[in-house]
Amino acid sequence: MATKLTAEKPEHADAIERVLARAFGPGRYAKTSERVRERGAVLEPMLTRVAINDGGDVVGVCRIWRVEAGDASLFFLGPLAVDPSEQAAGLGLALVRDAVAACRASGGNGIVLVGAERFFRAVGFTRVPLGKLSMPGPVDPARFLWLELRPGGLDKAHGAFRAPKR
Ligand SMILES: CC(C)(COP(=O)(O)OP(=O)(O)OC[C@H]1O[C@@H](n2cnc3c(N)ncnc32)[C@H](O)[C@@H]1OP(=O)(O)O)[C@@H](O)C(=O)NCCC(=O)NCCS
Repeated sequence: MATKLTAEKPEHADAIERVLARAFGPGRYAKTSERVRERGAVLEPMLTRVAINDGGDVVGVCRIWRVEAGDASLFFLGPLAVDPSEQAAGLGLALVRDAVAACRASGGNGIVLVGAERFFRAVGFTRVPLGKLSMPGPVDPARFLWLELRPGGLDKAHGAFRAPKR
């Protein structure tokens, strides 16, 4: 596989939108995760990972955002998408692993996301304990997951997500 993973650059923006549209189809903006992003989460292009195939096309993305909850600065992961033409070849997991490694190397506390437990368990994500964090809309507790990036990193995380102080 000659696909390479890189940080997000401004010139990737349109191609990322095309991959998201193809992977998710309509209804993507109805997700509760979109409400987190709309409410002032800050995109982290250097921690986001974009997959580029050997033809130079963007074929996958795993975006990382910065939010706050309680007394903790956290990362929020998503959307994660791989173009349907390239799915089931390990790219989705590779994107997540690389983005998580970048978040850890940046000195982060932890990462939160809404997604399939069966998929994200492979990278170490577990369910957010009930009542610990709240999302700005309905979320299935079985899909509300987090990963601690350093010992005690999630101890001070609680309540609703806020936009980070810049
Ligand atoms: C989810 C997605 C990013 C996975 O990308 P991918 O490149 O196909 O995934 P991988 O090849 O790395 O799959 C790794 C493993 O996860 C499993 N998997 C893939 N998608 C899954 C899902 N939605 N739920 C549970 N498991 C899933 C695969 O079966 C594979 O397991 P295996 O190795 O035991 O067969 C991709 O299918 C996609 O873009 N889907 C539409 C958008 C979406 O639903 N995104 C949200 C993800 S929670």
